[in-house]
Amino acid sequence: MRTLIKWAGGKTSELETIKKYMPETFNRIVEPFVGGGALFLDMESTKTLANDFSPELIKFYEIVGTADFFLLKEIISKLHEQRIRALNLPINGGFLEEAAKINSHKSFNQYLDREIKSKIKRIAKINMARAITGDSPLSDEEVAIQYRTAVTGALYYVYREIYNDAHQAQALDVNHIAYWYVVKQLAFSGMTRYSTSGKFNVPYAGISYDSRSLVHNLEIMESAHNAPFYQSTEFRTGDFEKFFEEFDYFDVDDFIFVDPPYDDGFTKYNSKGDFTREDQIRLRDTIKKSSAKVMLLVKQTDFITSLYESDFNIQTFNKNYSVNLKNRNKQDVQHLIITNY
Ligand SMILES: C[S@@+](CC[C@H](N)C(=O)[O-])C[C@H]1O[C@@H](n2cnc3c(N)ncnc32)[C@H](O)[C@@H]1O
Repeated sequence: MRTLIKWAGGKTSELETIKKYMPETFNRIVEPFVGGGALFLDMESTKTLANDFSPELIKFYEIVGTADFFLLKEIISKLHEQRIRALNLPINGGFLEEAAKINSHKSFNQYLDREIKSKIKRIAKINMARAITGDSPLSDEEVAIQYRTAVTGALYYVYREIYNDAHQAQALDVNHIAYWYVVKQLAFSGMTRYSTSGKFNVPYAGISYDSRSLVHNLEIMESAHNAPFYQSTEFRTGDFEKFFEEFDYFDVDDFIFVDPPYDDGFTKYNSKGDFTREDQIRLRDTIKKSSAKVMLLVKQTDFITSLYESDFNIQTFNKNYSVNLKNRNKQDVQHLIITNY
């Protein structure tokens, strides 16, 4: 089964490599850093233990497996409908009045006003630049696209506000998770970033995301909901070490796939900060206590190599990044498959 959510560091394109180095037989699949869950969803094993630090991600997985999934689906579909309405608004004298009816949240009109003003400025700027170069001004259709994006933008900022309120309260109910999901789908470049006060502050991705469907993953979520392997998967939330401790460092016939945040200081997954070098050391020491077969997939850095070179087997492979913000990781980076077997 494919993944249910787009997640930074997703391993769908590395599945072949992972499988090549996986042990031939094992009992349970254990994922202490499950993230987008490329491996466990692909394996469809009825004996899976999955953990992640993100309470929202794990709650999402849990909801998909319960009757609450249908409420999640309903909320996501409702927000999708609002975006469709925005994208079909006729551009005429009644535009603003019709736009204002799409969402009833107290802040919607404020965001709408701000977004429209910003688009008016933007249209004027583009047309001015075009006049200087002798080009014709934006066509009616191009202007319409700008105005409609003001509405989808205002919707995004309302969704983000609702999400932030729930996030700060750690509500972890279906409503919270639905808005979390939607905001993640529509945030600029799929980024995750929180302010120092813990508010998700990534702006709307803009025109290029207007056509993005919020409902395209609902079908795969429903397949997961109905799948016996998914129903028997056990989820946990929290730090990996606590997870290892809870299961007594796992058994000889378990296979643990370890996909931690990279030792690069770039990738952020939550509002609580980075995965530090101390965490990398703690991870290595935790793995050493386990009698299970353990495979790690990490980006090569001298520090990582120094942690594992004496007691583990290390294979190198190349991979290209799918998340490529500001060309930070454009060069071909070496990746390592580290095993204790
Ligand atoms: C590289 S991603 C995993 C990607 C995943 N294998 C996939 O295919 O999408 C790393 C994950 O580790 C989680 N994480 C960060 N710190 C953690 C910690 N201390 N304990 C457990 N999980 C943590 C992040 O939330 C993130 O989902």
